[in-house]
Amino acid sequence: SIDQKVEALLSKMTLEEKVGQMNQYNGFWDVTGPAPTEGEAEKKYEHLRKGYVGSMINVKGVKDVMAVQKIAVEETRLGIPLIIGFDLIHGYKTVSPIPLAEAASWDLEAIEHSAKIAAAEAAASGINWTFAPMVDISRDARWGRVMEGAGEDPFLGAKIGVARVNGFQGKDLSDPNTIAACAKHFAGYGFAESGKDYNTVDVGTSTLHNVILPPFKAVSDAGIKTFMNSFNELNGIPATGNSFFQRDILKNEWDFDGFIVSDWGSVAEMIPHGYAKDGKEAAKLAVNSGSDMDMESYLYVAHLVNLVNEGAVKESDIDDAVKRILKVKFELGLFDDPYKYCNQQREKVVIGSKEANDAVLDMAKKSIVLLKNENNLLPLKKEGQKIAVIGALASDKSSPLGNWRLAADQNTAVSLLEGLEQYPNNTITFSKGADLVLEEASFPMEVKINTSDTSGFAQAINVAKSADVVILALGEHGMQSGEGRSRANLDLPGVQQQLLEAVYKVNKNIVLVLQTGRPLAIEWADNHIPAIINAWHLGTQSGNAIAQVLYGDYNPSGKLPMTFPRNVNQVPIYYNYKNTGRPNLPGPNLVFWSHYTDQTNLPLYPFGYGLSYTNFDYKNLVVDNTYAIDQTVKVTLQVTNTGQVKGKEVVQLYLRDLFASVTRPVRELKGFELVELEPNQTKTITFTLSNDQLGFYDNNGKFKVENGDFEVFVGGSSLANLSKAFKL
Ligand code: IFM
Repeated sequence: SIDQKVEALLSKMTLEEKVGQMNQYNGFWDVTGPAPTEGEAEKKYEHLRKGYVGSMINVKGVKDVMAVQKIAVEETRLGIPLIIGFDLIHGYKTVSPIPLAEAASWDLEAIEHSAKIAAAEAAASGINWTFAPMVDISRDARWGRVMEGAGEDPFLGAKIGVARVNGFQGKDLSDPNTIAACAKHFAGYGFAESGKDYNTVDVGTSTLHNVILPPFKAVSDAGIKTFMNSFNELNGIPATGNSFFQRDILKNEWDFDGFIVSDWGSVAEMIPHGYAKDGKEAAKLAVNSGSDMDMESYLYVAHLVNLVNEGAVKESDIDDAVKRILKVKFELGLFDDPYKYCNQQREKVVIGSKEANDAVLDMAKKSIVLLKNENNLLPLKKEGQKIAVIGALASDKSSPLGNWRLAADQNTAVSLLEGLEQYPNNTITFSKGADLVLEEASFPMEVKINTSDTSGFAQAINVAKSADVVILALGEHGMQSGEGRSRANLDLPGVQQQLLEAVYKVNKNIVLVLQTGRPLAIEWADNHIPAIINAWHLGTQSGNAIAQVLYGDYNPSGKLPMTFPRNVNQVPIYYNYKNTGRPNLPGPNLVFWSHYTDQTNLPLYPFGYGLSYTNFDYKNLVVDNTYAIDQTVKVTLQVTNTGQVKGKEVVQLYLRDLFASVTRPVRELKGFELVELEPNQTKTITFTLSNDQLGFYDNNGKFKVENGDFEVFVGGSSLANLSKAFKL
């Protein structure tokens, strides 16, 4: 068995070699060529040769992966292969929509397929481990990393996390087309104070157990192979040195048998956190609390041997970490063939294949959310229309790739303009209006936004004047969200709001195509613009997907996985809030209730919201409460397509536990089903609620189901208003 093989190998290893397995190095240099700087790279090569490196990150492409793997396999004493990690966040060279966009599809099959295709491309390029899925729940659109997750809801987040793990890992990890997945960031990273990246997290036990942890538990139960801890501290303890998370919960309570990698340099960051006094103490705290692999802090390799010899770290804990790492390598089949991901022929065929492009196009269409469609301005007529296309994002071939597109070639997205050109019987006139970014934004650099140059407005206004319809492509550049890219404002960046208002003055027939990596506050647009679609950052096939939706060749079915606020000052804003003791206006003009005096409590677009070119009607909600007999409550309803065209609807079920020993939110998503209906077609949907959906975690982290009053709501968004009460 694999366990026996692991034991046998471990028994041959020196302490130095064991520690080496726990060390991961970045390889941002051309490993087959000369190292760019002396020192660091040379030391890494030396460590590789000695067997002091267990994994590398950011080495990609068959040629380069083979080069490092060859050193590990042929030059080290035991020839233990490296595990090659990479941030495969939404596609590899063929880029799929950002994860937040994919989440808007609520289509678990499509999401699993998208991850499978991404895994196959990356695996063909030598990679066998991705640092995804990010299953951090976040309620703060200011946080740049919301683009990488599935939004604000733990139920949806858990389902999507599992779908992505299944897509990456497949049924058989030793299949050369599958790769190991990694749940990150364990835990609490999405609750950074003020939405500022890497910031302090301080949350109570109820939120921790009911909101933050469930998606992690779900992917652990689904057999994910690795976890990544996190940059943040939570309630005073950095996640990287947090034994409550890593040992008590993950490895003991959840029985997780894979390994935990640190985040980049997060072992060393425990020093500025004020938790470890130096690198040696940081290494000790991290390993003792269960962090198995050190990503780029260089501290395990520097200190663990001494720490064991001094008795500050137990060798049995080192053994446990190494066994976990070796086990995943065996499961990947790396010991049978360390070069199984290194086939140049396969690399040529798989990467950028038609299958990959079809998959990301399909995913992109499913991710688009129709936010507004007054007087059925959409879909557009296919002939005889004069269309003005305005906005820098319309011609941008880089922005739609979003952040975390480390393997994509520059400017390889199909732009919106190119997508619209597929419909040649309309006349298109394009005017940028204004630049959005001043120079092309790179991965680690701050994006420079045009905040003053409006010199192109006049031309845009001219073009808009004579058009039948104006398509305004506005929003965020793809590099304005992602790691380190928190924003204090959620409005349209730069001069885009001015541009929108200037165009509106001359032509009100506007379709706003919003491209964004996070919810934006677009209240003015919602008040004035007749049609709005949210097109996120949709990846390689972006323009084709948007055009197909605009022209009605695909009927949009996306639903928001995150609340859109009216105003940044409403943030954090989320649908599953608590009622408070003063939820309602007590009488005209009275102030003593939970509200703002200058702003409504309502969001602009709620969680779960999204329109279609058809309409759906909900009726005949029946609750069949058989809990006393079989511990389930069955909820049945009928949904009918009452419009003229075929369409898909995400039928959503929300639950409220009215009184509990720990207060429960006003409603929580507990079921959803994606249905496709022909005009006039009705489907009966049944949800079965069992203890998993009916219960909650108390403040000791114990799951319980309490008797009492419940209410169930069904509909097409979190405002679902068809409801029924029942008792347990
Ligand atoms: O995987 C990422 C992580 O999400 C953020 N820090 C860097 C890691 C490796 O690139």
